[in-house]
Amino acid sequence: MLSIGNLRLNSPLILAPMSGISDLAYRLINRSFGCELAFTEMIGTDSLVYNSKNTLNMLSSRADDRPLGVQILGCDPDLIKRSLDILSAYPFALLDFNAACPVKKVVSRGKGAGLLKDPAKLQQLLQIIVKNKRMPVTVKIRAGWDETETNAPEIARRAQDAGVDALFIHGRTRKQRYSGQVDYDIIRRVKESVQIPVVASGDALSPQLIVNLFSETGCNGVAVARGALGNPWIFGESIEYMTKGKIPVSPDVSDIAKTMKEHLLLNIELRGERNGVIRFRKFFAWYARGMAVKDLKRRAFGACTRDEMLQFIGELGTRGNRDVNRVSEMKNI
Ligand SMILES: Cc1cc2nc3c(=O)[nH]c(=O)nc-3n(C[C@H](O)[C@H](O)[C@H](O)COP(=O)(O)O)c2cc1C
Repeated sequence: MLSIGNLRLNSPLILAPMSGISDLAYRLINRSFGCELAFTEMIGTDSLVYNSKNTLNMLSSRADDRPLGVQILGCDPDLIKRSLDILSAYPFALLDFNAACPVKKVVSRGKGAGLLKDPAKLQQLLQIIVKNKRMPVTVKIRAGWDETETNAPEIARRAQDAGVDALFIHGRTRKQRYSGQVDYDIIRRVKESVQIPVVASGDALSPQLIVNLFSETGCNGVAVARGALGNPWIFGESIEYMTKGKIPVSPDVSDIAKTMKEHLLLNIELRGERNGVIRFRKFFAWYARGMAVKDLKRRAFGACTRDEMLQFIGELGTRGNRDVNRVSEMKNI
């Protein structure tokens, strides 16, 4: 059980927000395998306030897509307040503020992980969000800017003082982006610095690595990101491993092909045939991770129609076989 403000969760495993990935179809597929709390893609406050059609599409959801968190990115107090007003019309269970995005264009404007360099400003923004809140508020941070400035414990205390309900921490610095070692120690120090729940992120790529994150850091929850790409089974498998201690049996290729088909058809239902198939191309490669089907992945990357993609999925179902190096491939996105 994990409580974040008034939100009560049965599962401590959360589907992490991922730009360009965490759309409705992706969330629904993960939910069907045991994911409980999921997030939208990151929403820029400026695009939201200025009504970008793309951004509004990212907010689309439906009744079987609950509980759903929304994540915002910004640094302008006025745009943040106006975003909170807009978002209050949606059925979100949680609002997360991004202070972790490492992208150059983002940090150079003082947003995302750029805010780690200005803890006082981040605290001020969080105070504004908490004051105007209509749902539980969380913040996502990183270990720090670089190895010389791992100030996550200080930031965590400031976030708690600002009144946030929980904290997400990716145990890497901005400089590391998504590579290199995850720092369990800093996550543990963050956990020890605050009383609010702490959700850990970083290399949650397998049931075993997820259990390690809990045991090495004492965190209250784990956010699953790259580990769920083409692998929604990670939710059920990890819960089984955590409760029974048994290494779960991986899905076989026919189960994988069946889920791929469901995912593709959902994409098409929600985006139309062409856009749905194009969006699915990268997922094809993720579902096929660890299988010796390089040429099939290449062909699937050129698919434009439902029938073409279904044919490639069918071929994968008969040809694919898994080797044991799947986890080592997970970081390659
Ligand atoms: C392609 C991609 C997009 C991401 N987008 C976001 C995002 O929009 N918001 C966010 O807080 N984190 C984002 N992340 C970071 C993940 O949520 C997660 O913290 C990070 O990948 C570490 O977890 P992992 O090593 O288990 O993948 C993204 C990561 C990837 C790989």
